[in-house]
Amino acid sequence: MDLTVQTHLAQVFAQYPIEVAHGEGVWLHARDGRKILDFYGGHAVAGLGYGHPRWLAALERQARQMAFQTNALPMAVRERAAARLSKFVGLGLDTVFWINSGAEANENALKLAFKITGRGKVVALQHGWHGRTAAAGAVTWGAIEKWYGFPRRPFDVNFAPRNDPSAVTQFVDGDTAAVIVEPVQGVGGAYEVGKPMLQALRQRCNEVGALLIFDEVQCGMGRTGAPFAANFYGVTPDMITAAKALGNGFPVSALLLSRSVAGQLKNDDMGTTFGGGPMACAVAEAVIDTIESESLLANVREVSSYIRSSCLIGPVTAVQGAGFLLGLKTSRPAKAVQAALLEKNILTGTSADPHILRLLPAYILNESHVDRLSDALSKISA
Ligand SMILES: Cc1ncc(COP(=O)(O)O)c(C=O)c1O
Repeated sequence: MDLTVQTHLAQVFAQYPIEVAHGEGVWLHARDGRKILDFYGGHAVAGLGYGHPRWLAALERQARQMAFQTNALPMAVRERAAARLSKFVGLGLDTVFWINSGAEANENALKLAFKITGRGKVVALQHGWHGRTAAAGAVTWGAIEKWYGFPRRPFDVNFAPRNDPSAVTQFVDGDTAAVIVEPVQGVGGAYEVGKPMLQALRQRCNEVGALLIFDEVQCGMGRTGAPFAANFYGVTPDMITAAKALGNGFPVSALLLSRSVAGQLKNDDMGTTFGGGPMACAVAEAVIDTIESESLLANVREVSSYIRSSCLIGPVTAVQGAGFLLGLKTSRPAKAVQAALLEKNILTGTSADPHILRLLPAYILNESHVDRLSDALSKISA
């Protein structure tokens, strides 16, 4: 890309120095000829990797059959994908509302919590990230100080410590409509909030009648090596939001509802033009189908433990997170390690924690790919 030419794109993203021409599996092919091993996965989106044949076939089939249709007209693919997603998560979360992005899913989850409880306050966790829209940004740690932009939060938010079960009762009370939590924080540094914390939140929400929302936009859809983090930790929320790997690159998100929440819905409580479009639903169905038929959850678990055992090397002093949402703790600033890896044609991510290098690879990653990472890390000074 000739950077001297004026761009017509809004200048709001810091960008890595790679112009991607095409992708194949876990590999990125740059326009300058470099072949880059991708541990960043399009920011947790490319769960199946690039150009997966089942994903391509589902897109093509559905595009030819019917690319779009409004929710006012019933369609079998929409119904089938919802059944497939509910069965994938289990846990009695068997009603799906389809939307388009992670923030939109969280926005709707919060709105339902206000409507159902008639209360006006939300508890979020410190270092959590939930999106850029008015409600999602309001519950995102640090947003107000850094980029929020709206004149005020639309409701009251209290941020509880992210891993202190003993503090939960003090934050969550009879005025709380919802608690929203990423069970494994992504931007927060591939940080496990932990089972005791999730259990304490579940118990307190039950006690005071608040709704528990798991934002699984980044950590869900197989990334922990279980269908969702709710399955991984054995804690069932009232709502789960899913996006990113759900579409493997086709924009789609979902709000999964417990029977009790779903039972209180009325017409017009939520709505969308593009959500539940047949392309999005065909893709979500194909993604779940592929995860199951190619045993990708088992692969995530196995290769994740291989990363944990083989990548404690060079500047890496510890590994945190779960499955394929991992944080390599670095002795040097993570950005410097990231740049050194990129020179060796390996792409990784960073996070809000300056000493965490974030790995969000595709679920098809194998041990030979990890060997390339550990070899590259071993050549970077501590
Ligand atoms: C945990 C989490 N929630 C919500 C979002 C927002 O998703 P979107 O960018 O699709 O609105 C993100 C995006 O990175 C995320 O990581």
